[in-house]
Amino acid sequence: MARLHITGGSALTGTVKISGAKNAAVAMIPAALLTEAPVRIDNLPDIKDIRVLVEILKYLGVKVIWQSPSALAIDPSSLNRWQPPYDLVKMLRASYYFLGALVGRYGRAEVPVPGGCDLGPRPIDQHIKGLAALGADVNVEHGLIKVEAKKLKGTNIYLDVVSVGATINIMLAATRAEGKTVIENAAKEPEIVDVANFLNAMGAKIRGAGTDVIRITGVDNLGPVTHTVIPDRIEAGTYMIAAAATGGDVVLQDVIPKHLDPITAKLREMEIEVEEAGDKIRVLGNTYPAAADIKTFPYPGFPTDLQSLSMVLLTQAEGNSVITENVFENRFKHVDELKRMGAKIKVEGRTALIEGRTRLTGAPVKACDLRAGAAFIIAGLIAEGETVISDINHIYRGYEKICEKMAALGAQIKEIE
Ligand code: EPZ
Repeated sequence: MARLHITGGSALTGTVKISGAKNAAVAMIPAALLTEAPVRIDNLPDIKDIRVLVEILKYLGVKVIWQSPSALAIDPSSLNRWQPPYDLVKMLRASYYFLGALVGRYGRAEVPVPGGCDLGPRPIDQHIKGLAALGADVNVEHGLIKVEAKKLKGTNIYLDVVSVGATINIMLAATRAEGKTVIENAAKEPEIVDVANFLNAMGAKIRGAGTDVIRITGVDNLGPVTHTVIPDRIEAGTYMIAAAATGGDVVLQDVIPKHLDPITAKLREMEIEVEEAGDKIRVLGNTYPAAADIKTFPYPGFPTDLQSLSMVLLTQAEGNSVITENVFENRFKHVDELKRMGAKIKVEGRTALIEGRTRLTGAPVKACDLRAGAAFIIAGLIAEGETVISDINHIYRGYEKICEKMAALGAQIKEIE
């Protein structure tokens, strides 16, 4: 099994190009099934989650051609199945988007309960509630979510929790429902806006994406589309935090600085310099950043996906810091691994207290999920000696060429068998 070997001590410097947003792309690929016309998606990240989704499309009878490593042409007209297979579905969370897409197009879907990162309980009751409210019969039995609807009918849906996945899934199904759907307490992530723009370019009528009320007027048919995925704000945040933690000087290219505001604001609060210019952002690290308290929240709050990475940065801060994880019940699995590297962190419920100015030392660690894996890379970069990260498949699920990008910035990182 491949592992990542990192020798600590290098400050990252140089320029890194940010890839397309994973969490928008993983919704667009299933969403392509809502039309029978040709779909082309550009700026797709070259990551494992995308390759798995493409395998699922092929299994469902859809013709797919890679026109470049980041451009996919999809011909959804040949769709002839509505049951994505368990072996592929279990590999990623986003396979739940086949529920909304297939029931919208086909009137039925049978999707195994999805896999993905283990962040504690990850219920999908809001997805189910939304699809049922649109008039679908939804049954969960033998590990399968079965959804069936002769005709979906628009309605008002108030989400009990702000959920990215449920907002998008309901939006997909409602796009082909009869009449008007209103999603209230919707999530506002930029990826949701990007998926809405993708669908609108096909002829959908979605208004209000990016606010907490989304209004969708169903349409009978959708047309062809060519769409470019927005930049990945979480990948960008990863390199911003890596630059800050290593005391480096990194320019990120192809970003939307506005989407990075929650991260930029927190880094500036920690006395780390962040400069914005057009579609670039420059981060200049500081040997001992100021301590800070971080509370994760749905967008535009500080992203939960950067919680583990910012924890590594805070181990180097001047003073103690507190992180409160408000989105997922149990997203502190990385703490024990960081402690093995010398971090001094105490967890109580949803709160972690992080001692600053801690000397980290290289150690073998296991990537327990995608973002934790990236956090361990950053920890390895600032630790004394060698760090070996196992279970790196999690990292490759969501980061394009992370080894090459980090190495080009001066990191001593390589994949070993
Ligand atoms: C999306 O997951 C992202 N995944 C996650 O990114 C991200 O961490 C998360 O949003 C939060 O930003 C994809 O987009 C594929 P949620 P999702 O539904 O949609 C609760 C990464 O590293 N909830 O917004 O599954 C849930 O338990 C990944 O890239 C319900 O209670 O997350 C959580 O506490 C990991 N019932 C909260 O809502 C539901 O039906 C937010 O989850 C759905 C969610």
